[in-house]
Amino acid sequence: MPPSKKDKSAARIPQQRAAPLPYRPSPSASSENTKQTGQQQEVQEQQQPTQQQGKQKKKEEAESLDSLFSKRKLPLVGAALAAGVLGFMIMPLLVTYLKGGCSENHQHASEVPPDAVPTGLPPIGAAAFDASLDVPERIMGIKNERKKLAKESKGAVLEVAVGTGRNVGYYLWDPASFTPDYVKSSRTATEDLLNGNRERPTITSYTGVDLSGEALGIARTQLRVTVPAVASAIPKKAAAIDDDRVAVGTEVVNALDGKVRLIRGDAMQPLPLPANAKESGVYYDTVVQTFGLCSVADPVKLIANMAAVVKPDTGRIVLLEHGRGWWSVVNSLLDKYAGSRFVRYGCWWNRDMEAIVSKAQEAVPGLEVVSVKQPGWLQFGTLWKIELKVAEKK
Ligand SMILES: C[S@@+](CC[C@H](N)C(=O)[O-])C[C@H]1O[C@@H](n2cnc3c(N)ncnc32)[C@H](O)[C@@H]1O
Repeated sequence: MPPSKKDKSAARIPQQRAAPLPYRPSPSASSENTKQTGQQQEVQEQQQPTQQQGKQKKKEEAESLDSLFSKRKLPLVGAALAAGVLGFMIMPLLVTYLKGGCSENHQHASEVPPDAVPTGLPPIGAAAFDASLDVPERIMGIKNERKKLAKESKGAVLEVAVGTGRNVGYYLWDPASFTPDYVKSSRTATEDLLNGNRERPTITSYTGVDLSGEALGIARTQLRVTVPAVASAIPKKAAAIDDDRVAVGTEVVNALDGKVRLIRGDAMQPLPLPANAKESGVYYDTVVQTFGLCSVADPVKLIANMAAVVKPDTGRIVLLEHGRGWWSVVNSLLDKYAGSRFVRYGCWWNRDMEAIVSKAQEAVPGLEVVSVKQPGWLQFGTLWKIELKVAEKK
């Protein structure tokens, strides 16, 4: 361990100490005393070089400690940082284990078969699930990745396994597309249009699909808050979508002539096409999917279903996922607590993203990988951002 500032100044203290005063015999001393004093002086003279040697040694030690630190500054600081980061990474795993792995859950977790099928309903409930993600996602840089991904999305957007709508607030909603007709002529709408930067990627329609009606209820509120023009079109107390009573396949939100939709749907089945085929083309420009490959029964099928509704060539499937990382020590921790995680959140966080994508490529003709990134060094490669496209049929 490198000495702290405090330690370093402590090591220098011997150099700064005042030199000892020279010995002066007292004038009133007896001859015996003088004899003794002479002996003492002799001893003292003999001791002086030894003391000086000691001081010199301490000085050298302090200097070598200093020079050692300055020579090894980088590796030592690096090691301290790595230890901190490792602790930081292991903490959430430990917290997850303690929250989800201990107590009554532990029993369930150990009984979870490794291929248990997610139901699409986070066992802790959608609201608790949503709230529990705020702090960890900010700390781990996931919030930033969501923002980047949403800002890259453009045109007609389909968000699969949209959950509670955690990305909704980050899209660049094109004001021209999301202004209700009756407001379009007003001053506010014109200002909206002028303020909107038309050069940036903007989304022109939005369809969100999820199996959980409860999660969709929260996503609907997100939409109302984020897109004011849409709020008037989405009744506050819409059909009972805050629970899972509505049938799978129900369009629980349809606003601005289908430009904004939320559908309770099973992504293991064929996905819905854009509502306004004339304006947005038959297929979607961007198909977004965040933390869903870990949560569905068959992730390869999910990619195949998304590939079936994305515009060939120009369209993009964008995935943000967690899965196996760079280091086996981290992967074995993911494996160890995967059961507890599944019991609590209904997702398998230890899936192999590369393997899933290459299986999808075998299953879907023309599916191409545009880019694969594992952003955020705090994640040790467990966060995956993958962009796919489907080549135009020749
Ligand atoms: C971990 S959450 C992620 C939610 C959201 N995408 C996000 O980034 O916060 C996984 C979501 O997948 C949904 N899900 C699981 N299986 C599904 C299926 N077969 N069809 C549609 N959604 C599904 C769940 O209901 C849940 O909302």
